[in-house]
Formats: sequence, C-alpha cells, structure tokens
Amino acid sequence: MRLSLRFIVPLALALGAIAYGVAPLVDQLTLKWFVRDLDIRRNLVASAVQEPLVELLTDNTRDRVRLQRVQALFTRILQDERLYALGFCDGAGKLVYRTAFLPAEVHCRAPGAPAEEAGRVLKHAGGALHVGATPVLAEGKQLGELLIVHDMSFIERRSADTKTYIVYLFAAIGAVIALITVVIAELSFRGWMAGIKALIRGQSLALSPEPKSRELRPIARDLEAMVRELEAERRQRDESQISWTPENLRGILREDLKGDEILIVSNREPYIHVREDGRLEVQRPASGLVTALEPVMRACSGTWIAHGSGGADREAVDAQDHVMVPPEKPAYRIRRVWLSREEEAGYYYGFANEGMWPLCHIAHTRPVFRASDWEHYRTVNRRFAQAVEQESRTANPIVLVQDYHLALLPRLIRERLPQATIIAFWHIPWPNPEAFGVCPWRVELLEGLLGSSILGFHTQFHCNNFFDTVDRTLEARIDRETSTISFGGDLTEVRRYPISIEWPPAPLAAQAPVAECRAAVRRALGLGEEVRLGVGVDRLDYTKGILERFAAIERLLELEPHWIGRFAFLQIAAPSRSSIEEYQSLEARVRAAAQRINGRFGAPGYQPIVLKVEHHDAGEVYACYRAADLCCVSSLHDGMNLVAKEYVAARDDERGVLILSQFTGAARELSEALIVNPYDTEQCAAALRVALTMPPDEQRDRMRSMRSLIQEFNVYRWAGRMLLDAARMRNRRRVGAARVGAKVVDLRRA
Ligand code: F6P
Repeated sequence: MRLSLRFIVPLALALGAIAYGVAPLVDQLTLKWFVRDLDIRRNLVASAVQEPLVELLTDNTRDRVRLQRVQALFTRILQDERLYALGFCDGAGKLVYRTAFLPAEVHCRAPGAPAEEAGRVLKHAGGALHVGATPVLAEGKQLGELLIVHDMSFIERRSADTKTYIVYLFAAIGAVIALITVVIAELSFRGWMAGIKALIRGQSLALSPEPKSRELRPIARDLEAMVRELEAERRQRDESQISWTPENLRGILREDLKGDEILIVSNREPYIHVREDGRLEVQRPASGLVTALEPVMRACSGTWIAHGSGGADREAVDAQDHVMVPPEKPAYRIRRVWLSREEEAGYYYGFANEGMWPLCHIAHTRPVFRASDWEHYRTVNRRFAQAVEQESRTANPIVLVQDYHLALLPRLIRERLPQATIIAFWHIPWPNPEAFGVCPWRVELLEGLLGSSILGFHTQFHCNNFFDTVDRTLEARIDRETSTISFGGDLTEVRRYPISIEWPPAPLAAQAPVAECRAAVRRALGLGEEVRLGVGVDRLDYTKGILERFAAIERLLELEPHWIGRFAFLQIAAPSRSSIEEYQSLEARVRAAAQRINGRFGAPGYQPIVLKVEHHDAGEVYACYRAADLCCVSSLHDGMNLVAKEYVAARDDERGVLILSQFTGAARELSEALIVNPYDTEQCAAALRVALTMPPDEQRDRMRSMRSLIQEFNVYRWAGRMLLDAARMRNRRRVGAARVGAKVVDLRRA
C-alpha cells in the first residue's frame, strides 16, 4: 500500500504539473477559436441589422428623429448580452451614431484606408473586447460602416474553467495510469523477486515452478547471463589474487559447495598403524599423494577411504573401520578397506605396479599384465565402490578418486550414486596412445575413468595424451575446445591441475635454524663442517633415476677430483613395493652402485654417497633439506615430483640449489632450477659442479622466485580449483534439472 501511494501520488502530481504547463497553449488555442466565432457572430449581427439600419439611414426624416430611431435600434440589439457596444461611421469616416459604452479607443476608418476583414482584440479597462467593422450597403452603394464591439470576458471565464478542467483531467488520468501500473507491478513483484533471488543464489528464473511474468523472461535471461559472467570473473579474479590457505579452502566448501560432503578415495592411507617394540605407533608413508592430500583433508574434514595396509591398522579402528586422524589433533576420519594378501598381491603389486606403473612411465621397464591380477584389480575397485556407497551420507557427495590403482572406480561409483560429483586425479603421467595401447584392458580402464565428472592430470601434455588415447580406443565425442569427452551419456571434463604442497609446510614449523640443521646433519653423517652436501629423497623406484644420479656424482668426482673429500651426497631411499622383483633388483643395483663409487672415491671417515634405505619421517627429511647445499631430483619420468617443491619450501634462508630432471611435471613450473636430462651423465655432472660453485646471490634469486611460485600455487589452490570446478558443475546440473522440471510442468499444463 505504501508503495502504491508512493507511486500514484507523484505520478498524479507530475501529470497535473504537465497539465499546468500545457494550459497557456490551450488558452491561445481557444482564444483563436473564439475570435473566429466572434467574427462570424459579428457578420450575423451586421446582416440582421443591415436592413432596418439602411431603412432608417435612407429615410427622409429629420436628423434628430433619425438619431433617436437608430439609437432605439441599437439599444434593442444590445440586449444580446455578449454585445458590448455599437457605432456607425458615415462615408466620410465620421462617427455619427454610437451607444453609450463604445470605448474611446474605437475609431472610424479614415477615408481610403484599407478595410479590415477580421475583427481585432482590444484590451480595455473592463476586460478584452472584440471590435469589428462591417460595411452597410444600400443598392450597391456603401453608406458607411457598422462598428460592432463584443464583450470577451466570457472567453476569459471559459478559458479559466477549461484550464482547471484540463489540470484535473490530467491528474485523474495520471492517477488511473499509476493505479493500473501499481496493480500490475504488485501482481508481478513477488514473481520477479522470487526469480531474481533464485538467480542470485545461482539458480535460474526458470526454477520457479510457474513463472508468473512471461514478459520478463528475456530480462531474466540477460540477468542470469550477467550474474554468470560476474561470477566467472570473480572466480578468475579470486583465483589469481587469492593467496590460498586452508581457510580459503574451507570458504569454498562452505559457500560454493554449501557444506556438501567430501570423500577422498585412494589406495594409500595417510596414517599407518604399526607395532614397534610392543607399542602402537603411527607412521606417515612416503607418498607424493599423501603429502599433497593430507593438508587438504585437514582443512576440509570428511572421510578418507583407503587400504588399511599397516600391520596394526585393525587394532586402531572402531567397529565401522574408522579412525580419526591426525592423532595429535583429529580433523577427519579414515575408513579402512581390508584386502586379503592375494588381493593385495594381484591388485596393488600386480596390476597397479607391475602393469599400470611401467605402462604410464617411460622408464624402459616392461609392463606385465596378468589376467589374474586384472581380476583382483576389478574386485578391489568394486570393494572401494562399496565403501564409498556405505560412507556417503547423501545421494550426491563429492568424491575425489586418486590415481591409477582405482581407474575403474569412477564408473562404479557413478552406477551406485548417479548424482555424485566424481573428481578423479591421475598422479602419474598419461602415456601416448601407442604406449597405452599395449594394455589388454585399455577399453575397460578408459570406460572406468570416463565415469568421472572431472578428470585431472598434472600437465596439459598428459591431458592431450589422454584425449588422443580415447580418440584411438573408444567411440566417444571429444571436444578439445571445452576440454570435454562425452561417452555413454556421461560428460567428463579433462583438465590440468598441477599438484603442489601446503604452504608453509607443516614440518618446517618445528625446524631449527639452517645453521643448526647443517651442523646436526653433518655430525650425524660423520662429515666435517666444510663438506658440501647434496641430498636426494625418493621412494626406491626405478622411475626416480637414482642410478643415473649416482653416475653423475661419479663423473663429477672423476672430472674434478678436488671434490673428493669435500662433497658428499645423502640419498634417502624409502623402501617401496619391495615384493616386486623389479624393485628388489633396483635396490640391489642402487646399493651396489653406491658401494662401488664409495669404494672408488671413499676414504676412512668419508663416503661420497651416503645411502639410507629406510623410512624417514617428515621432520628428519626437512632437516636434511635445510642442511644440504643442493638437492638432486633426476626422475626418468614423473607426474609432478613434490620433493623438488619441498626442498624449495624448506629453504626459508633462500639458499641451496635445485637440480631437476626435465622429465618431471615440476620442471614446467620451476624453471629457475638447473634443468637436466638424467640420461645425460655429462650434463648432470656439470650441473652438480654449477650448483656447488653457484654464488650466494644467484642462489637467492633463483630460490626466491621458485619459493614465491610454490607459495602461490600451493596445494590449497590445487584442491580449491578442482572443488570450484565441481561446484560450478553441480550448480549447472541443478539449474539444468530445474529447467527440465519447468518444461515438464509447462508440457503438462499444455
Ligand atoms: O606420487 C605417485 C605415487 O604413485 C602415488 O600415487 C603413490 O601414493 C606414491 O607414488 C607412492 O606409492 P605407493 O603408494 O605404492 O607407496
């Protein structure tokens, strides 16, 4: 009501004001009309008077009598209330007869002056008068002119009345228009508001079950497009400007995903329970995947489903196989999935690590494919799918499926939870179609992965290889422009998400200053303060190029013997997949190479290569990073390699040099490292020399640049970008579903 009044009153006033402004124009117009009417009237009066007047004028009576008679005639005629005065001018232009009120300003026309056709308006003290002269003729001869003066005050009265009516009329029209508008607006208002609110919430106007304002739909569509654009712009701006932190990630979960449920699924679990000396101990496995995802999970909470592979894992879980972690400050829970020895042998050691791992890495180790391994792989993937179904509290959770152990899982989840948003991330390289083509179950693997909503790789190169592989293997529609693959009715976005580490890394907080780390690590290794130290931290895996690294060290000592006794290399090698023959053989070869080189260049109290094949916790590894003058990452092929990023992150003193294989994903980001081809021993030896002699200023410049990159492109951004994409996708699906719903309603109504 208040709104209506606020609208009607101003509109009525506005129209009234317009009317008031228009009134003078109306005045002028009506005056013209009335003057024309008075001219006509004057002619009528003149023709009515003509005959008796001529009679009197041509009568032979005396002048005095004639005067009286003419006066009487004039008085009679003046009874018409609009006639004000009359006069008669003779042929010489002399006023011979007149009524009393003939104004002094009214004169006879001078002889020979042109006659006036139309009357004129005379402003007189009593008001306006209309004065006109009409010739009086007798038998074609002009006797004189009759002056007829009309009173125009009635026009002024009428004009004032008209003005008032016009103002009232406009005001009334205004009020009626406003009232109609308000009624329509009121009726539409709620529909609009509901639609606009829905739009702002990221839904569509079409969401209202029965849109009331059809005429507004084009506006709504524009508005919707605009909101989308703004939203996309905001995202891009946010992504480039935000410094990503656990809080930002939580914000995305809260606002963009509206608190939706998050499940992570991987083979490797983030915490392993073991018994040591009778005590239940917790260990963190050496795994790039765990390094990256654990901080994300700490920020997001949720459930992490993984293989319970620790010797004492069963002792730590509750009746639902759950355990809260991290032990010191529980933030999320692990759901452990149990596998039999045979299943683990077939699925993990066999198909995943003897088949898929060498298939995807170009490290010249032949993949082995066994049908029995494949069967276990399928069984275990189904087991994980079952666990996902059991753990999801809603029908549409966000499930983050990790790595090559679970390639079939996305489709299996899609079958069980069609509404789920499934993000699969492939932590290792994706090979070219020829290489992948040797896998007997390539079709099933691809079909499994294409159950994902989003499929992520570290680099665009891996995405392209995946597109090419699908192109060669399946009947699928690939759209490289939008980076999507449509297969079997499902759409998968294939995108690049380079993984990273948390910033600042948690293990750094407990570290001593660099000088203390240098001294402590050298002391522990039995090295003098002056000895330059290199470090390598890897799983003991043939893809890591450990033998190639040792060959480069050997070559350096050959070429520049002054480094003997003055340079040592600490190789931390976490035992990995040791049931596999290839890995056992690698360990033997690595040990042998270290022994041989140490035999060649070592001396009592000095070994150029210090090989530690054992598990180190993150604190110990970070102390070594801080103690080392250089870090060597010489992978033959690596999806990303987070050791490279960890080394840079550990060096808050901006010192140290990173030697990095060109075949890692990390080399695409960390271009200030000394980039090498690990197969080129001479080049790697030269890189070692450059690193050992690099001036502190240059070390600082390179470190500073790499550190700022890792700080910005940290793991929270990695996870955040994927989750934002998932949120966008979920929102789009919600809108799509609502549109379909609205169409169904329309059809039913039709
Ligand atoms: O970083 C690559 C990766 O394969 C991870 O996916 C895996 O968790 C890690 O290496 C360690 O391997 P595993 O889990 O077999 O010990």
